[in-house]
Amino acid sequence: MTLRRMATAGLLAAVVAATLGAVGASAGGPRPPATQDQSLRGLAARNGLYFGTAVDPAAYADAADPQYKKLVDSQFSTVTVENAMKWESLEPTRGTYDWAAADAFVANAQRNHQLVRGHVLAWYSQLPGWLNTGIQDGTIDGPQLRALLKKHITDVVTHFRGKIWQWDVVNEAVSDPWETPSAIHLGGNTGSLKQKFADLLGPDYLAEAFRTARAADPKALLFYNDYNIDAFGDGGPGDKTQFVYDMVKKLRAQGVPIDGVGSQGHLSTQYGNYDVLAVADSLQRFTDLGLAVALTEVDVRSLLKDAKDPTQDAAGADLNARDQAAAYNYHVLLQACLMNRHCLSFTVWGFTDKHSWIPGWFTNPPEGAGCLWDANYQPKKSLRTVQGDLAAAGPPLVQPRVPQKPHR
Ligand code: XIL
Repeated sequence: MTLRRMATAGLLAAVVAATLGAVGASAGGPRPPATQDQSLRGLAARNGLYFGTAVDPAAYADAADPQYKKLVDSQFSTVTVENAMKWESLEPTRGTYDWAAADAFVANAQRNHQLVRGHVLAWYSQLPGWLNTGIQDGTIDGPQLRALLKKHITDVVTHFRGKIWQWDVVNEAVSDPWETPSAIHLGGNTGSLKQKFADLLGPDYLAEAFRTARAADPKALLFYNDYNIDAFGDGGPGDKTQFVYDMVKKLRAQGVPIDGVGSQGHLSTQYGNYDVLAVADSLQRFTDLGLAVALTEVDVRSLLKDAKDPTQDAAGADLNARDQAAAYNYHVLLQACLMNRHCLSFTVWGFTDKHSWIPGWFTNPPEGAGCLWDANYQPKKSLRTVQGDLAAAGPPLVQPRVPQKPHR
């Protein structure tokens, strides 16, 4: 062996040892690590995957709740701020920006060596009051809204230029099959703000939003982000995934600078489960278009009450079953992501039931318990499942099978 080769071999051994952490490479090969000692970011890094969370800056800054900050800093390699980059947060008064919360968030992320997902630029929801009113009462017309959106995207992307890994450029632009009309379309229910926003902007607004974002930051990855696009349906007019697929395919064909599709992944155990291979197939169809994909807002909520008597909390046995169903849903989304080399990141929308948007949003019937850690920061089955999936996703722990020779 030449000197150079030996040095390389030594380096390799050091890297492997470092990756294995406390694990000794004994004669029988590496032993599985004690998974509770492995951070999600560390386990995901073995597969080149970034593991992320949405962050609530108030909880992060709360000295009385130190566990929140500790877990954000130690467990995650990418972060999304839950609300602070939304239009209503950045420009509450027309013409006056307030960058303080978002800037502090980005600075923390950089200190922790975390990549930032920028969320969100073009979205009908959480608009500032002045804009909402103008859209609702008709005092802001189509050309005005287009100009406002263009300026908003330019200002925000320019402000954060060079600091954002993935931008959610357009969020939730598409209707759901239970809305009216039921054929999937740009917008939402007839008469809704979602529909007005789409109608005022006109069908070309997505292309323009991506082009505007690209002009302001040549390096950020530009995403279309939506929910209920986990798997394809029958390909018909009610198939939201198919609609989004056709939409981004067309954008690509027009030379629009779109780089990825974000699948939010807000699931609920009351609706049953997806299959790993169905979700993997859907991700693959998007990545076959030359796009990256990411799971951007994963959580798996459950009904909290006894279905037969909603005045009562669910019984312990039911909760245990729901916990396992939630874990399975996390598993399906994560496995599908791990199977696709263009799936860049897996982000959960909050990591503890203590700080989750679910109970405040899904109230009738009440839902909750959707995170990896419970409200007392105790690990749940979902966390253990995700850790196991990451550890089992490839080398160094999972290696090609070793054929056994018959003993003589
Ligand atoms: C949610 C936040 O978590 C809440 O705090 C807020 O009140 C409403 O919005 N899809 C998205 C996110 O793209 O921005 C939403 O975040 C959750 C659904």
